[in-house]
Amino acid sequence: MLSEQATPVIRATLPIVGSAMGDIAELFYRKLFDARPALLRDLFNRGNQANGEQRQALAGSIVAFAGMLLEQPGTRPDAMLARIAHKHASLGITSDQYKIVHHHLFAALADVLGDAVTDEVAEAWDEVYWLMANALIAVETRLYQEAGAPEGEVWRSMEITGRRQETADVVSFLLRPRDGRPAGAFRAGQYVSVRAELADGARQIRQYSLSAAPGRPDWRISVKRAHGATGPEGEVSTWLHEHAHPGDVLTVSVPFGDLVLPEGDGPLLLASAGIGNTPVLALLDHLVSTGADRRVVTVHADRTPADHAHRVEHLALARALPGARLHLWYESPGHDAPDAPDGQDGQAGQADLGGLDLPEDLTAYLCGPLPFMRAVRGDLLRRGIPAERIHYEVFGPDLWLGR
Ligand SMILES: Cc1cc2nc3c(=O)[nH]c(=O)nc-3n(C[C@H](O)[C@H](O)[C@H](O)COP(=O)(O)OP(=O)(O)OC[C@H]3O[C@@H](n4cnc5c(N)ncnc54)[C@H](O)[C@@H]3O)c2cc1C
Ligand code: HEM
Repeated sequence: MLSEQATPVIRATLPIVGSAMGDIAELFYRKLFDARPALLRDLFNRGNQANGEQRQALAGSIVAFAGMLLEQPGTRPDAMLARIAHKHASLGITSDQYKIVHHHLFAALADVLGDAVTDEVAEAWDEVYWLMANALIAVETRLYQEAGAPEGEVWRSMEITGRRQETADVVSFLLRPRDGRPAGAFRAGQYVSVRAELADGARQIRQYSLSAAPGRPDWRISVKRAHGATGPEGEVSTWLHEHAHPGDVLTVSVPFGDLVLPEGDGPLLLASAGIGNTPVLALLDHLVSTGADRRVVTVHADRTPADHAHRVEHLALARALPGARLHLWYESPGHDAPDAPDGQDGQAGQADLGGLDLPEDLTAYLCGPLPFMRAVRGDLLRRGIPAERIHYEVFGPDLWLGR
């Protein structure tokens, strides 16, 4: 909770700090990387720095946290903190690094807002920062303990035991610990980070959802090559497509991620688009392998059947679940669809949940590009599904955090 002294100061300055937070975050990253260039090279995602998404996510999350301290004192934005903490843990962030971030963030705040940052204002925002930082550190500490990893020590060497071209743009990799033991446990829906050593010596990290159920000797990830329609080719996905082959060793984190199934047998909606079906495949595979008979509506949208990664498997998993129905949409459905079982050719166009019979008490899991998730979420909210039962995974910095 914010102190009595800080509350009115945050209330008075939230509008000005909120509207300047984008500039503050931009300057913060410049200061941070000037002082510690290795952090940009080996920890932060250079693409997200170049396209500005990470600073939006950081700014949005801090402003949302401050707003919550004012409007709902005594509650915590658990979902937002979990999302950030899982991402941090998958990168091996340590508690001592919060002092470094604090130093450069507050230097940026003072530079951008100038005289408006009196001692009183700085102290009040300091309180907000440390409330948020300590909440994150507490969740990250628990995640490291649950993973059996000392703080920040999340990296393992894993050998590529299989590689398959799934579609023109998607390759899947099977991974097993280098010592040959079976890959460890995880919860369906979670992801790992992969750290790639690139040609310029940078060690860039990206996350990949585990795309098959736990309990097998190998983990599987499925990587779509990012062609970069408006920017350069994606660094790590291109590297994996071009350089990662069976027998090679990758540096992979232990699994993290909060998009996991609730206990119980309530109905589910699993909605994905494009490469966003990777966590959904793991969830379906898990439901099949545990003999679940809960009602599952699974929805997938893609450009064409040929672009639909793991299409045959996706269809087979949905058919293997007694309580499941699968609905497919393809922008160009005619394209290469001979493998579809009867009635599973897919409809033409964008996914539209309007005509589907959905249980009112469903819990929804969404994964795909933001416009797809926005449309599906909107449909669900209009049907009266409460926001807290709509979970989602964004394959990049979560720009919804500040909503
Ligand atoms: C939880 C989670 C799970 C994920 N699961 C999967 C998965 O299962 N499968 C999968 O394929 N992906 C997954 N992703 C996405 C993955 O982590 C990477 O983001 C993706 O592979 C692209 O990484 P990259 O290094 O190839 O591209 P990057 O180099 O990071 O580039 C990403 C985009 O930014 C643009 N960009 C880069 N630099 C600039 C610049 N200077 N100016 C303008 N634009 C620029 C690029 O053109 C590209 O479009 C997941 C992400 C998260 C967070
Ligand atoms: C209170 C302090 C902090 C806040 C509010 C914060 C917030 C965030 C947010 C919102 C994200 C995006 C999460 C997502 O993917 O959706 C993120 C990612 C990240 N954070 Fe933090 N963070 C904090 C501290 C730190 C610290 C101390 C470090 C270590 C130097 C750090 C390093 C990172 C990195 C490397 C990423 C991933 C960046 C990327 O993939 O582009 N953060 N953080």
